[in-house]
Amino acid sequence: MLTLKHLITASICTMAMSSGALAAAVPDVNLTPMPNAVSLTGGTVRLPEVLTYSTNLNPADLADLRAYLPSYPLALTPGGKDAFINIAVNGGTDEADESYKLTVAPGRVTISAATPAGAFYGLQTLAQLARNYNGELPAMTIDDAPRFSYRGVHIDVSRHFFDTDYIKKQLDMVASYKLNRMHWHLTDGAGWRLEIPGLPRLTEFAAWRPQHTYAEWRDNGGKYCEYTDPAASGGYYTEADVKDVLEYARLRHITVIPEIEMPGHSSEVLAAYPELSCEGEPYVSGEVCIGNEATFSFFEQVLDEVIRLFPSHYIHIGGDEASRRHWKNCPKCQQRIKDEGLDGEDGLQSYMIERIERYINSKGRDIIGWDEILDGGLAPNATVMSWRGVEGGIKAARQGHDAIMTPEAYCYLDHYQDDPETQPVAFGSPVTIFQSYSFNPAPAELGDSITAHIIGVQGNNWAEYIPTPEHGEYMMYPRIIALGEVGWTQPEHKDQASFKHRINDEIRYMQSRGYNPFTLSEQVQTAQTIDYDRKCITLSLTSEKDPIDIRYTLDGSEPTLASALYSQPFVVTDSIILKARLFDGERPLGQVKTLRTDYHKAIGKTITYAPDGDYYRDKKEYMAGGQTGLVDGLRGGKSYMDGRWQGFCPNKLDAVIDLGEVTEISRVMANFMQMKTPQVYLPVKVEVYASTDGENFTLLGTDTLRDEDAALDATFADFGWTGAPVPARYVRFVATQGEHRFSTFLFTDEIVIQ
Ligand code: ACM
Repeated sequence: MLTLKHLITASICTMAMSSGALAAAVPDVNLTPMPNAVSLTGGTVRLPEVLTYSTNLNPADLADLRAYLPSYPLALTPGGKDAFINIAVNGGTDEADESYKLTVAPGRVTISAATPAGAFYGLQTLAQLARNYNGELPAMTIDDAPRFSYRGVHIDVSRHFFDTDYIKKQLDMVASYKLNRMHWHLTDGAGWRLEIPGLPRLTEFAAWRPQHTYAEWRDNGGKYCEYTDPAASGGYYTEADVKDVLEYARLRHITVIPEIEMPGHSSEVLAAYPELSCEGEPYVSGEVCIGNEATFSFFEQVLDEVIRLFPSHYIHIGGDEASRRHWKNCPKCQQRIKDEGLDGEDGLQSYMIERIERYINSKGRDIIGWDEILDGGLAPNATVMSWRGVEGGIKAARQGHDAIMTPEAYCYLDHYQDDPETQPVAFGSPVTIFQSYSFNPAPAELGDSITAHIIGVQGNNWAEYIPTPEHGEYMMYPRIIALGEVGWTQPEHKDQASFKHRINDEIRYMQSRGYNPFTLSEQVQTAQTIDYDRKCITLSLTSEKDPIDIRYTLDGSEPTLASALYSQPFVVTDSIILKARLFDGERPLGQVKTLRTDYHKAIGKTITYAPDGDYYRDKKEYMAGGQTGLVDGLRGGKSYMDGRWQGFCPNKLDAVIDLGEVTEISRVMANFMQMKTPQVYLPVKVEVYASTDGENFTLLGTDTLRDEDAALDATFADFGWTGAPVPARYVRFVATQGEHRFSTFLFTDEIVIQ
């Protein structure tokens, strides 16, 4: 066994670190989203105690502005010609123009824009300047316009119902960061939320359940109840509620896009109107029967009301995750496939989407659907919302359709945002604030013909694990603000170091306004780069919080206030065990992070997989580096989608590493991930074998799953062998998963050999 002392042979390099990223092309002003052109004109301008404004807005637009101003963070008073703030809207020809120009000069602030929306964004910028510079603003000119026309937040109100006060509160905050779409997920299998005249069972019954939380409800069979049931929990929006939200959104230049899910995610419809299911019974299927004409009458009736209520040009019709199972066995669905000459069940789904599209088009509106609407052929005028990665959006754009990017790995706000063991239950594969921030919905490499069709980005707050309004905010903020900058700011003006500083200020602001944002990770974050020529790994420590101190030890002891203060990366040529912790002044935060880093013997060596233990190749994100992914020295983070984790499904890893020559080894170890919600499980058994000739392998050791790890929903654990040094040229590593009712994944990031 190697001693700890022996392991600490890292040289700590004195390489000078540059003071951050390259200078941003715009001055690093404290504004979020970062404007696209800023010019500091010198000196500062103090805002007066009483802020007066004048404007040339027409009476209707002025009335809208006045209706909004009570929730604007600065108190503005109408003034005359010499008012401090002048808002000039010059009536451009493009209604969708959201650009604005803001000038802060001695004695005067001017906001000019082509449209009231542009003026609104100028006012948001002014409010941020006022608070972030304590009323003493740098004199400047900002000439700003968004990168994308669609900058959305999605709110799921089916899995848990949220009232209109909650919705309006979120609209107010996201509008201040220049988001302009709210995708309202009004219907899904956990509750129907919109009153529809003539279809009373949707809201008397399918909007109510005897358990409040989604998890309790699901675990008790997922049944609805009458609204009169004393235990009834849930709710729905009346016409008056919808109008209230729409007006509130309109004043903040947000378009509300309603979603009515079909043909899947519809078990609540079938509970209320079982005759629309293939079996004619409730609680059997989540998909409506497409062979039944009544299904179309139902959705047309619903859509008539949706179109009457919502002015949005786009109506979202879902289209995701519809199982084909019930249609396969349904005589009516099969008859429809035959009569219409459809290509099986995929064709049947397309038939429904296209037919509904024709109906919506006939009312002068267009559809948006999740990327599954590509399966079986895309409806002629559809816009695709790409969630299973970006590929669906790119495919749609290639066919000349518009696309909105909302890939799970960057945009799903229901995923963990930090180490799962530190967080309330959420969906697996964490999406950290900087993961969201790093997203580029339309990279230039795609070419203009594709990027022209990528109209924007959206963050999705699915609510299965969001039982309270406070928790909804906790998951939404601050990641939605990061996505707001993705949507607004040109990529060359984005800068993570600057954003980190700014977002920490914005979190404090949101708290001061009575919101409950996640206050960012209390854990030390790590990043590694590898230099194969110099045979070393550079390990950097960072934090999401700013300002903050990072203290560390290399001798196995717990870091304290007396421990070394981190200032520069470590260069590891052999192995180190680092323990690090964040300190907010004298106060330790979070937990101690223990990180072992090895420039180990398998790096750059050849690995081959047995046919039944080969890695999964259907998803790029699950392949790590492909054939070299487990011997490239690169370790994964918290997300199995970060391109560093290699997935195995079905559930076995069996690989042989050829070290090139007989070498002494004493440790073979791999770290595995468990995230039960997305069906990622630790192995139950790992076997490590060694051979000098590649033919005769000796078992060095077997490691098995510990009960305490098996019980955890989300965790990471090492499996392998450590022992007295033995000679080996070939090392075989076999990891096997247990039996599950459903198919599971195994994920590991590196096979470390020392
Ligand atoms: C989705 O997450 N099923 C769109």
